[in-house]
Amino acid sequence: MQKLFLSLLVLITIDAHAQTSAFQWRQIAPGIWKGVIGKPETISPLGVAEIKPLMAALQKLGSPVFPQNLKESKGELNDGKTYLRFPLDKNEQLFGLGLNFKTVQQRGTIKTLHVDHYNGKDDGRTHAPVPFYVSDKGYGVLINSARYVTVYAGTAVRKDSKNPPLEMNRNTDRNWDASPYSDAVEMLVPAAGTEVYVFAGKTALEVVKRYNLYCGGGVLPPKWGLGFTHRTPTLFSDQQILDEVESFEQKGYPLSFVGLEPGWQSHSYPNSFVWDSTRFPHPKQFLDQLLTKNIRTNLWINPYVSSRSPIFKSIQPYTASHTVWVGIVPDFNMKPARDLFKKLFTEQHIQNGVAGYKVDETDGYDSWLWPDVARFPSGYSAEQIRQTYGLQFQKMSADWFREKNTRTYGLTRASNAGSSSLPYVIYNDYYNHKDFITALCNSSFIGVLWTPEARSSKTAEEWLRRMQSVCFSPMAMLNAWADGTKPWTFPEVAEQVKEVMQLRMQLLPYLYTTFAQYRYEGTPPVRAMNLTEGFSFEEKVTGANLHSSENPYAIAVRSDIKDQYMLGDYILVAPFFAGDRIRKVVLPKGKWYDFYTGKLAGEGETIEVSQPNLDRIPLFVKDGGIIPMIPALLHTPKRDEQIPLTVRHYGSLENSWDLYDDDGETFDYEKGIQSWTRLSVRKKPDGTLEGSLPTTQGKMFHYKDIRWEYMGR
Ligand code: GAL
Repeated sequence: MQKLFLSLLVLITIDAHAQTSAFQWRQIAPGIWKGVIGKPETISPLGVAEIKPLMAALQKLGSPVFPQNLKESKGELNDGKTYLRFPLDKNEQLFGLGLNFKTVQQRGTIKTLHVDHYNGKDDGRTHAPVPFYVSDKGYGVLINSARYVTVYAGTAVRKDSKNPPLEMNRNTDRNWDASPYSDAVEMLVPAAGTEVYVFAGKTALEVVKRYNLYCGGGVLPPKWGLGFTHRTPTLFSDQQILDEVESFEQKGYPLSFVGLEPGWQSHSYPNSFVWDSTRFPHPKQFLDQLLTKNIRTNLWINPYVSSRSPIFKSIQPYTASHTVWVGIVPDFNMKPARDLFKKLFTEQHIQNGVAGYKVDETDGYDSWLWPDVARFPSGYSAEQIRQTYGLQFQKMSADWFREKNTRTYGLTRASNAGSSSLPYVIYNDYYNHKDFITALCNSSFIGVLWTPEARSSKTAEEWLRRMQSVCFSPMAMLNAWADGTKPWTFPEVAEQVKEVMQLRMQLLPYLYTTFAQYRYEGTPPVRAMNLTEGFSFEEKVTGANLHSSENPYAIAVRSDIKDQYMLGDYILVAPFFAGDRIRKVVLPKGKWYDFYTGKLAGEGETIEVSQPNLDRIPLFVKDGGIIPMIPALLHTPKRDEQIPLTVRHYGSLENSWDLYDDDGETFDYEKGIQSWTRLSVRKKPDGTLEGSLPTTQGKMFHYKDIRWEYMGR
């Protein structure tokens, strides 16, 4: 009796401290709910990104009911922290949880989501540790916290579990499992409260669309942003850059914008943010010269201010207790700090024609950032500022361009939730080609863009492989800041590299529409196979063999499709990696055709493609695929240029697809100044296919002389 009384007392005490409660979900948009535990903090990723949900598009997407699976979700406050619990089904798969590089499926992983430079492990330390996961059961969960959130994504087992794993005897039972079944995602938010958002959807893709639309819709880059970009060696002068641009043109390699690395500044790092007068005596003239060739300029910076910068003295009061690379660290939560940057950057760069920034080193590693004991004048903690710094710079600088009614498209090394509509692509210094492709897949779940930039290579083959995959990513970039590599550096593959860069330019109408789908419908431009209709893949579990040093607990490894992805609605990209002569490609349901020849490649099956010679990146097109293409221009088309359009149709299915266009540079599209052109292919009575004359709603901005090409006929 005494025992019973004691344990009752313990139970009551735990409960009084813990305040376990079910969520009170409040619907805030069709298919989106918000729940609050405790008192959410005043700084959060969605708040910093200042998201503006696209309500009309959300309404159009439909109103699914609250996900059944999440009805039993729980939250509690304990020890000044928030404990969260979301149930999982037996065969549920999870995706997202930051920009991961090793695996696509995240069930069974533990991470502390922490802005950092990726260092080879999917442990949560990454450039965009977005606290958002998507389930293949048709829902997503977002924790809107600027803290280092720890996630146990189906690893922890509670003793009151409704679906507990069976206890087994390792000595006698062959099915003994080192990772016993877990029926929940649990999270620890180190703050006394947080907002939680739930996104519903029939499919994982619909969930992602809803998330992106809630965050303001995906970004629509300026057209030049989708051409090719070359970052020049750091100490290049204006003339050297002009010469470099000239050689691209003479050799016939496309180029849409150049990147200037730290040497454009008089002092860096830390940074003066003003032009170096020996290398760039006449910045405006230099930028104009590039612009007359229709080439834009992007400037490298990191935000840490040098004593030689004109804003050094005035920004001092709004900076952190610690420096980064001896530069003072602005607290952009303070308006005067934002204003000082805006004035300097607008006057020095944007008014002279600079088109965008590469915002470097907002991520880590730890020793290259402020420590967590740093203090900031806004009163927010170093942790909160670290989780939002890159995001905040994206938002702040995007607004400078927006005020001029000019679109920008730049680079960032740190991001977080809410960034879908921000015009920035993530890159890093890590350089594993395969992992770069996995990051492309993973970017599609969390509303960020990623570029597998090419810098240099050990062999011609590797160079070609890297250049091929970067041309099929959100930013086709050669970052030659240190090595001075050119597209033609390896003569053995110079022509093949040129061909894939030209193909990128030919695909501009398709790519631009793919981004318009991101903007208006929330559909990510690059899509992991798990977001693709008709994709199914038998998961194999291997490696559960005992090994005293490598695998003492016999932990099984799950297989994953992470080396192929969709670019837009129709193109499946299956890159080759240096050394590979043969690779497997998993084709979703239906027929798929070779992009180059139009020949049938396979139907809902796993095929093997072999590449006896180096030439082309394997690309496959879905049956009925409609792909609009332009000639291989050297630069992005000018604002008033009209170009002939060839529309390819693949396979035998009737189909329609809407081609998007606008002026390619301003935000006038938000006022409805844009067009959608319906491209349709129908079967004639004799069974042959015929493309219709396009019908355009709005002005036909850049295309003329539309003609159809039936591939494979
Ligand atoms: C690195 C960056 C490189 C290059 C370099 C210049 O942090 O990742 O791409 O910009 O700085 O110092």
